[in-house]
Amino acid sequence: MSQRFGELGANLVIAGRRGDVLEETAIELRATGAKVLPVQCDVRNTTEVQEMVDRTVAELGGVNVLVNNAAGNFISPTENLTEGGFKVIVDIVLHGTFNCTMAVAKQMMKNSGGTILNIITTYAWTGSGYVVPSACAKAGVLAMTRSLAVEWAKYGIRTNAIAPGPFPTEGAWKRLVIPGLGIERKMKKRNPLGRFGDQIELANLASYLVSDGAGYINGEVVTIDGGEWLKGAGQFNQLEKIPGAAWKVMAAMRKRGKKK
Ligand code: HXC
Repeated sequence: MSQRFGELGANLVIAGRRGDVLEETAIELRATGAKVLPVQCDVRNTTEVQEMVDRTVAELGGVNVLVNNAAGNFISPTENLTEGGFKVIVDIVLHGTFNCTMAVAKQMMKNSGGTILNIITTYAWTGSGYVVPSACAKAGVLAMTRSLAVEWAKYGIRTNAIAPGPFPTEGAWKRLVIPGLGIERKMKKRNPLGRFGDQIELANLASYLVSDGAGYINGEVVTIDGGEWLKGAGQFNQLEKIPGAAWKVMAAMRKRGKKK
């Protein structure tokens, strides 16, 4: 997303916990021609978040766009979680989003507004077993998105969200794809489009939503998952597993029934 924003002319502030990773990423992103400010920051820490915003204003003059993308997640049977395991995810995802949103929005309010984009997930509304802390936290971010879209429109701040399906990244795949179980093949198979998302598809959607071209979109969640969650939700979608011959038998039975 940052790469695409840079290509489209934005200056960038990237934040994360590991300074060395940030520095390397900043070098890559500068190839787009953007000014890039890497800031070491844990989104759970309100002091660090405020410092990130202060440095942004000092070095880039202001902030127009906030993408709340920081997340934490792991797969675990819920009965095995400790209080600390639940808390760490909620702290990163829900509190982290709130912390960054508050600090940046106050800056946006001083100017003529801005736009906030929250990265959520399709199980923010369906829920999902084995990722309960993440599902609870992302549901909270969804509620925050819709609430602030209404409350802060008066300050010229638009708030939207993206719910991505499977987009392969090193971090996500390390957590999701247990080797040797054919998980990637199964994930592709259960997707109506039969493939994973391309990074550029997500980057283009994010670019559009934060651009002036999307100026009347506020409080919306755009799903970008190839139709994955709908396939799981539709009551009769599993009928695709019925072989062609069985449909012919059913049609013949129906015709016989009509003749009687
Ligand atoms: C159960 C776990 C656990 C696990 C940690 N905990 N990992 N419980 N299963 N796999 C528990 C610990 O026991 C501890 O509880 C508590 O969580 C805090 O753990 P720490 O390691 O001290 O926390 P911290 O160092 O802050 O690390 C946060 C983290 C870590 C989220 C746990 O994995 C991390 O930093 N991840 C990087 C970001 C990330 O997760 N990205 C993925 C984003 S989503 P106790 O009670 O013992 O103190 C994504 C999409 C796909 O990529 C993901 C699908 C699953």
